[in-house]
Amino acid sequence: MKLKPAIISPANAEFGDGRLFSPRFGDVYHSVEGAMAESQHVFIDGNNLGRRWKDGSGITIVETGFGCGLNFLLTWNALRESGARCRLDFVSVEKHPFHLDELAPVLRQWPQLSDLGRSLLAAYPPLIGGFHRLHFDEGRVTLTLLFGEAEQMLAELDARADAFFLDGFAPSRNPDMWSPALFRQIARLAVPGSTVASYSVAGVVRRGLEEAGFVVEKRTGFARKREMLFAMRPGTEPSKPVPGKVMIVGAGIAGTSCAFALARRGIGVVLVDRKNAVAKAASGNPAAVVRPFVTLDEGVRSRFGMAAFGNAVRLYREARLRTGFSWNESGVLQLARDPAHLDRLVRAVELNAYPPELVRLVDAQQATELCGVAVKEQGLWFPAAGFIDGESLCKALHQLAAPLGEFRGGLEVEQVLVDDAGFVRMVQAEARTIDRGDMAILANGVGARLFMPDGAPWLRSARGQVSALEPPEPRLRSPVCRDGYVTPQMQQHNYAGATFDQSRFDSSVDEQDHRSNLQRVARILPAVFDHAGVDATTGWAGVRCVSRDRLPVVGEIGQNLFCCVALGSRGFGWAPILSEALAAHITGGPAPLERSVLDRLSPARFLPFSSRIDK
Ligand SMILES: Cc1cc2nc3c(=O)[nH]c(=O)nc-3n(C[C@H](O)[C@H](O)[C@H](O)COP(=O)(O)OP(=O)(O)OC[C@H]3O[C@@H](n4cnc5c(N)ncnc54)[C@H](O)[C@@H]3O)c2cc1C
Ligand SMILES: C[S@@+](CC[C@H](N)C(=O)[O-])C[C@H]1O[C@@H](n2cnc3c(N)ncnc32)[C@H](O)[C@@H]1O
Repeated sequence: MKLKPAIISPANAEFGDGRLFSPRFGDVYHSVEGAMAESQHVFIDGNNLGRRWKDGSGITIVETGFGCGLNFLLTWNALRESGARCRLDFVSVEKHPFHLDELAPVLRQWPQLSDLGRSLLAAYPPLIGGFHRLHFDEGRVTLTLLFGEAEQMLAELDARADAFFLDGFAPSRNPDMWSPALFRQIARLAVPGSTVASYSVAGVVRRGLEEAGFVVEKRTGFARKREMLFAMRPGTEPSKPVPGKVMIVGAGIAGTSCAFALARRGIGVVLVDRKNAVAKAASGNPAAVVRPFVTLDEGVRSRFGMAAFGNAVRLYREARLRTGFSWNESGVLQLARDPAHLDRLVRAVELNAYPPELVRLVDAQQATELCGVAVKEQGLWFPAAGFIDGESLCKALHQLAAPLGEFRGGLEVEQVLVDDAGFVRMVQAEARTIDRGDMAILANGVGARLFMPDGAPWLRSARGQVSALEPPEPRLRSPVCRDGYVTPQMQQHNYAGATFDQSRFDSSVDEQDHRSNLQRVARILPAVFDHAGVDATTGWAGVRCVSRDRLPVVGEIGQNLFCCVALGSRGFGWAPILSEALAAHITGGPAPLERSVLDRLSPARFLPFSSRIDK
């Protein structure tokens, strides 16, 4: 399916006397006789969740109509109060989401949910179309918000749902939320034995569900409503085997992110690297910038890039809170290379109607105030972007994964073999087995070519170098990017980079690349990094892995064999969502990205037809 820019028109609800009303649909969001009690009765009890999460290890719920998130908060709260150890993956689609500042007063009417409400507000994404994955309770609860038209967004969802909350406005006022096409999507997502609950027993709902293969019954409704609807998809779902142990080759940002995403789902991980510590190759960058990329290509690249950026920022905030890792959320200034580039950037922001909490156009004076150093041009300001030290990030992720994630350094993997029973074996020199597990992930950059079915000629190396500069006066407060970037001071230096060279594969720091970085930084901020007066004292170099189409490569490459490679020049912005997608796929959880995006990132796009995995 072709992805269009999903421009969001927000809720604009009216709120007074505890009544939340949508002028657009002419209906109330919740029962006037008790929003919480109705939600509990219809959706939570209606789907029998209390019993199901006591017995289960994980449950996936899909909701139509996120509204202000009351159903989600109540479900999360009920799970917490039950004391069950069950995982909750809650997916909710919403065409007209609330603005953050309109959501806060609405949620205040339920003080019982204030803790959870605060967490939701803190993680709430900007109003841009597409998928947004949020994590709570150290990852035991995920919320995937699909901002856009329900039918289209559900068609993009890859999930195996156990329960559905059908909560559009009344069918007579909101027919799109109860259409035959939407019920077909519900049926596609429903596992055998899954249940559906709705407050509406309208004929169109009953017939729609029956035609989609559900067995429908009416049950006692809430308060003055005589009836509510319950439906079930016949059959029972055999439980999906979850791997006990996954082996990962490569302990850079790709490998440590995968270890973290799996460990937070309770899966044991063995992380193997030829180096003796994590982040000793490309991910050892001492000063990497994490920012979204604004592009006129409104399809897969921008959907993926925005979902990835949001997820990375939320993860880095979490890692900062839980480990003290230094995520410098300074904001990032992007300057255009030339007037034509500026024009493209501005048109891309307008085309996608990106909200100011994501990006805003700033003039030279605002740019100067924001970054702290004189700038002569207009630019884009990304308030939630920032910069990191790659090694401490990888260490923080490894630390968070540690109870279930073991690191084994100093081991060169020479073969990855799958035996007849499907177990995967990592082998080092002299055919010695390093370890065996249920699955393996190749997260070793261009080194993955060795283990790919066709030798992966579509993966290439691109060496790069950053240069350490003496801090300028006045101090730079945020990274500034143009055809490269310069960071604020980290430890003793500002870092400027980066070179990109596909003809060299070494990671030695050299003069020629310093010169190129000095020219670059003189173009970015001539006011303080005048080429003639600046020296690079030292630097850092690494080798990126890039794919032929410059998108990352993540997915299945053989039986029980997966990869997460080709993170190019954006590994720190991309790895969190890629590893989340892989972990969700491996464990049968809902995907954090659109199916069209996942297809474009899959190794199948490059693999010879005969090597593809049939789905
Ligand atoms: C100069 C430069 C500047 C950059 N700037 C930015 C930036 O500002 N922002 C950003 O987001 N990204 C930036 N990047 C890109 C980013 O660094 C990469 O995308 C990212 O580090 C790739 O991570 P990775 O885990 O895939 O690879 P790596 O970090 O290279 O990890 C792969 C690991 O696999 C191990 N390995 C390989 N083969 C084997 C084997 N056979 N057995 C055992 N172990 C093996 C290696 O030792 C290595 O540790 C920059 C890159 C460079 C070079
Ligand atoms: C009754 S409210 C949902 C209340 C919500 N479940 C809660 O707990 O607060 C219905 C929601 O459906 C959304 N909606 C209406 N039409 C839609 C469509 N075509 N696609 C996606 N969402 C839609 C509305 O914007 C509204 O937020």
